[in-house]
Amino acid sequence: MLKGKNIILGITGSIAAYKAATLVRLLIKEGANVKVIMTQMAKEFITPLTMATVSKNPILVDFYNPENGDWNSHVSLGLWADLYLIAPASANTLAKMNYGIADNLLLTTYLSARCPVAVAPAMDLDMYNHPSTQNNINSLKNLGVTIIEPGMGELASGLTGKGRMEEPELIVEAVKHLFIKKKSLLGKKAIITAGPTVEQIDPVRFISNNSTGKMGYSIANELFSRGAEVTIVSGPVNIEPQYKQINVRKVTSAQEMLDVTTSEYENGVDIIIFTAAVADYTPIDVPTSKIKKEKKEKISLELKSTPDIAKYIGSIKKNGVFHVGFALETESGLENAKDKLSAKQLDMIVLNSLKDQGAGFATDTNKITIIDKINIKEHPLKSKKDVAIDIIDYIESKILC
Ligand code: C5P
Repeated sequence: MLKGKNIILGITGSIAAYKAATLVRLLIKEGANVKVIMTQMAKEFITPLTMATVSKNPILVDFYNPENGDWNSHVSLGLWADLYLIAPASANTLAKMNYGIADNLLLTTYLSARCPVAVAPAMDLDMYNHPSTQNNINSLKNLGVTIIEPGMGELASGLTGKGRMEEPELIVEAVKHLFIKKKSLLGKKAIITAGPTVEQIDPVRFISNNSTGKMGYSIANELFSRGAEVTIVSGPVNIEPQYKQINVRKVTSAQEMLDVTTSEYENGVDIIIFTAAVADYTPIDVPTSKIKKEKKEKISLELKSTPDIAKYIGSIKKNGVFHVGFALETESGLENAKDKLSAKQLDMIVLNSLKDQGAGFATDTNKITIIDKINIKEHPLKSKKDVAIDIIDYIESKILC
């Protein structure tokens, strides 16, 4: 996706500069041409030799080469680039960018660049949270600079919090997203239910299932990359969406998932996709203290059925909203999926069979059949990311005509 794209990578003085070598490697692997500008301070954290070797281009630091007087023109650099990425971006550089200070090549190139600019801040959590830094970041956002938000984690200071530069792989994903021209779903809103639900038995025990949320989150990522505004109503999972702009509403039980999904649906939506593995039953009474172990061989738990979210939202279906369900079956897949299509007033259902190797819950792959009122289309085994592409392609073919 980055084939032939010219990217300037600006590196500032931060411990995260050591990750810049991996970042350049990944950008080049995606087909980009990379030129690196470093501040004086950045050279203390990673050597120009390393960066020149991985980027296959000489490193630019000063306005001119002191040995032969060669001028490093920030203007022509700025014109060469399709993207100016500054990673890591220190608090100092962000402040200078905001105020238009131009005391090094990295900053003069920023002021003369005509291409989009993205920054991946890296600093200690208190520096990041400081109102001055936050003001600078917000002003840069308003100036059109893309902020690749730092992640949470252990920082060089030993403290833990937000401030760690985003991982190189995720920076590359964010860069790719900036280059995606085909925003076919721009202006469309989508809701995805994802993950399992957890039904409490008592304060320490629960009923749940093996859903990881990977399929739902992959679908959400794909919808967002095509320009849609995306909300995931998510049961407890260990993953996060690829893009921080995806809104995640965390829920626990089926009832909570129903309430949040209904309120999101009522706010207006164009596409709703039910990927969640909602628990079918929940305990009737949930005591407030732990149930004592008894000296009995058998005990029984009284359960009641949970609300069927897809069915309920189907019953209040709004005109023009495209509803998609999933059916995870072991027997008579096609027949059951077709029954669910009509019972839940879905426009399309995605069938995956637990009998197919590599399909279903805790895998990175899936094998699906897409079914609507007229068509049945089988797909081969693919990564969940590619399955998400097939699903969204199909939805697009139905709603964008
Ligand atoms: O009836 P079954 O559970 O097989 O239906 C699967 C489809 O219905 C999935 O799309 C699932 O997300 C949705 N569903 C739901 N609420 C439930 C049960 C299933 O939204 N309580």
